[in-house]
Amino acid sequence: MEQNTPSSSAPIDEQAASDEHAASVDRAPIDEQAASALTGSGLRLALVDTSDDAAFTEWIRADFRGFHSPAPKEEVLTEARGYLRDRRTTAVYDDAIPSPTPVGTVNSWVAPLTVPGGARVDAWAISSVTVAPTHRRRGVARALLGSELRTAAAQGVPLAILTVSESVIYGRWGFGPATFASEWRIDTKRVRWAGPQTGGRLSFTDPESYRETGYRVLDAVMASRPGEIGLSPYLADRLIGPLKGTPDAERFRLVRYDSADGEPQGFVSYTVKGEDDFTRHKVEVEYLAAATDEALVALWRFLLELDLVAEVRAWTRGVDEPLPALVSDVRGARVTAVEDHLWVRILDLPAALEARGYERDGSLVLDVSDDLGLANGRYRLTVTDGVGRVEATEDAPDVILPVSTLGSVYLGHDLARGLALAGRITGDAAALDRLFRTAVPPRLSTWF
Ligand SMILES: CC(C)(COP(=O)(O)OP(=O)(O)OC[C@H]1O[C@@H](n2cnc3c(N)ncnc32)[C@H](O)[C@@H]1OP(=O)(O)O)[C@@H](O)C(=O)NCCC(=O)NCCS
Repeated sequence: MEQNTPSSSAPIDEQAASDEHAASVDRAPIDEQAASALTGSGLRLALVDTSDDAAFTEWIRADFRGFHSPAPKEEVLTEARGYLRDRRTTAVYDDAIPSPTPVGTVNSWVAPLTVPGGARVDAWAISSVTVAPTHRRRGVARALLGSELRTAAAQGVPLAILTVSESVIYGRWGFGPATFASEWRIDTKRVRWAGPQTGGRLSFTDPESYRETGYRVLDAVMASRPGEIGLSPYLADRLIGPLKGTPDAERFRLVRYDSADGEPQGFVSYTVKGEDDFTRHKVEVEYLAAATDEALVALWRFLLELDLVAEVRAWTRGVDEPLPALVSDVRGARVTAVEDHLWVRILDLPAALEARGYERDGSLVLDVSDDLGLANGRYRLTVTDGVGRVEATEDAPDVILPVSTLGSVYLGHDLARGLALAGRITGDAAALDRLFRTAVPPRLSTWF
């Protein structure tokens, strides 16, 4: 259920993280432990002054190179500098080489993460982790991640979050996969609409005129589901319309859905690609934003009934996307992949566990291990009327688990049984599952 409507939500400039934590992004000094580890390898850790265009441009170039993206053109660099200036931006330099481009990058900011119960908790979001292929596997990423996590913890931010290029990297630093995303391929010549009629209006629009409305719709979407994060203008604009340098930018289309009484409730941005057979175009959904169930239904119907289209593809949908119920031929709408998506790292265990709500009452002693020494300890979680209270205890543990496993179950996903089978929960995993799992699985519907 996606219940929040745009009119009940804050505009995008008010939905940022708490002032205290947002300011910490600027305030926090460089992490000395990481700096000295890198000095030992002949490398230099530094915060990048993002108002220095030359230095920031080199950092952005390194980021693009690190992900094997095309070298950014001037307009792409200008746009990126504008969008990313406010992030805490860290670089690793090799002063022995004749290049101003860093050999390691990371950036971070504090984003509101929606948790079970509907609260939005400050989370240290980490992105752009790259190490130049010339400097790989020398401990640069290890220094950068340690630096981010210690800094976030020192600033009192209770959680760190990221989305990942490969699922094998971040477990070692205490992150666990906490949401999963589904990818869909729909044969639109095969399926027939089996969902309800909707009473609102669909219309084409463009990113410039829709942007402010789109921000409000997106904020309602992000507030409505555990796992979603409040979006900065950069992250929101990417979903509403193409950024500079996006391939096939001229193919982007934007369609809005407004309720019968004119309330903006959703939009879909998508591209249509041609095939030899003109009746069999392919639609790729860039983003489907539905702040209400009505908008979700209306926008899926719009996509599935496009003429001259044979296939619709969509990514980063929830694992409970209701498409099978909305079409007559269930096998015409296939899930082609389900992958780990948002990774969560608990930094302040009592604060994180008290911030979320619970759907059942109970009490549980958790014994948590953490190689970085940030969230380890033995705690009793007591849930009364859905509200959790955490206190340190000497009582015998009900469950013993590493912090990465706690991150995996934190947002309510149905993962405890598998993790117990894998030996990553010892003790009463069923009790942990009963307390932490939510009826609606968490979802993150975008990348950051
Ligand atoms: C992923 C990446 C940042 C790792 O940087 P790095 O400096 O080579 O990593 P480190 O030397 O600090 O490695 C730390 C540990 O992680 C492991 N590791 C790092 N990258 C890994 C990968 N891609 N797959 C598996 N293990 C990896 C190392 O083996 C090492 O393990 P150990 O501590 O058990 O010995 C780098 O390979 C890279 O830039 N990749 C391309 C961009 C990318 O995918 N970034 C991640 C974005 S989410």
